Amino acid sequence: EKGTYPHYMLKEIDEQPAVMRKIIQAYQDENDKLVIQPEILDALQEADRIHIIAAGTSYHAGLIGKEYLEKMAGIPVEVHVSSEFGYNMPLLSEKPLFIFISQSGETADSRQVLVKIKELGHTSLTITNVAGSTLSREADHTLLLYAGPEIAVASTKAYTAQLAVLSILAAVTAEARGIKLGFDLVQELGIVANAIQAQIDAKEEMEQIASEFLSTTRNCFFIGRVMDYFVGLEGALKLKEISYIQAEGFAGGELKHGTIALIEEGTPVIALATQEAVNLNIRGNVKEVAARGANPCIISMEGLQEAGDSLVLPKVHELLSPLVAVIPLQLISYFAALHRDCDVDKPRNLAKSVTVE
Ligand code: M6R
Repeated sequence: EKGTYPHYMLKEIDEQPAVMRKIIQAYQDENDKLVIQPEILDALQEADRIHIIAAGTSYHAGLIGKEYLEKMAGIPVEVHVSSEFGYNMPLLSEKPLFIFISQSGETADSRQVLVKIKELGHTSLTITNVAGSTLSREADHTLLLYAGPEIAVASTKAYTAQLAVLSILAAVTAEARGIKLGFDLVQELGIVANAIQAQIDAKEEMEQIASEFLSTTRNCFFIGRVMDYFVGLEGALKLKEISYIQAEGFAGGELKHGTIALIEEGTPVIALATQEAVNLNIRGNVKEVAARGANPCIISMEGLQEAGDSLVLPKVHELLSPLVAVIPLQLISYFAALHRDCDVDKPRNLAKSVTVE
């Protein structure tokens, strides 16, 4: 039940710090060590390549999951949109492992891929919020998200839960492979939970950003580089899905290859700057669009901020920054939709789970 909340979406956004803590607990053993089922670890150890299959927001989580599995655990990963994969399969290696990411576990596009790869005899793992869902029952293994029921059509807490579980999967696999991470994931996820809470407590700032940048616009661009690019894709999906503002996410460097032609006087460009290695590059991209009249809203992270940034996020481990950077984007989308009198929890033309191909 949504209790005193006006919308499920807002309630689910607010639940994210608690979900983080629940996930940490659920994946810890009695000595507070992160663990996953040994059969799943074996499947990851045996895989020569991982294919992540998902749709929508879960696909965006998959893009970041690839970074975790490659950078922490050293396993090559491809990420595929499920509706394409089954009909345009890439060349498969000898021992691929398929990871299905699905909040509902009922997405038909993903299920058709599962059916096909099972016929080929490949191993599968489903990461889902719903125990007993179709994708969970039909896959060899399941990891649960522990996010609690997500009712709003726009996925929020399931996304951050997916990222947290993927980071745990990558860290535990790294350990099993003898790779030293150099940081304590439990501690870092705790810091993330607090940073998420700080964003939630600063809702009025996001409401302010929504009215300043999005109240009358027809369109909006999200730019970022490296992991911020993937978070921008999710920010754009969230915004278009519930506010009907045409929104697109781009890699910061790609804009000048065509899309910059769309920048007009006052076009909002939400830029994420949480990645140290590309901070100067994204700042350069912001200057390019500002020089053409854009209205840039820069969301940066402590240590990388500059005067004039619209929002500065608390510092968290760079790999985990998507979990924090997405929160203001969720809230900005929520307020933009609210200001436009949109049906926040049930946007037009959409269903919570898409059970047709
Ligand atoms: O249940 P799933 O995670 O498989 O759903 C996939 C997409 O349909 C879903 O993430 C959709 O994009 C959301 N409505 C986005 O907020």
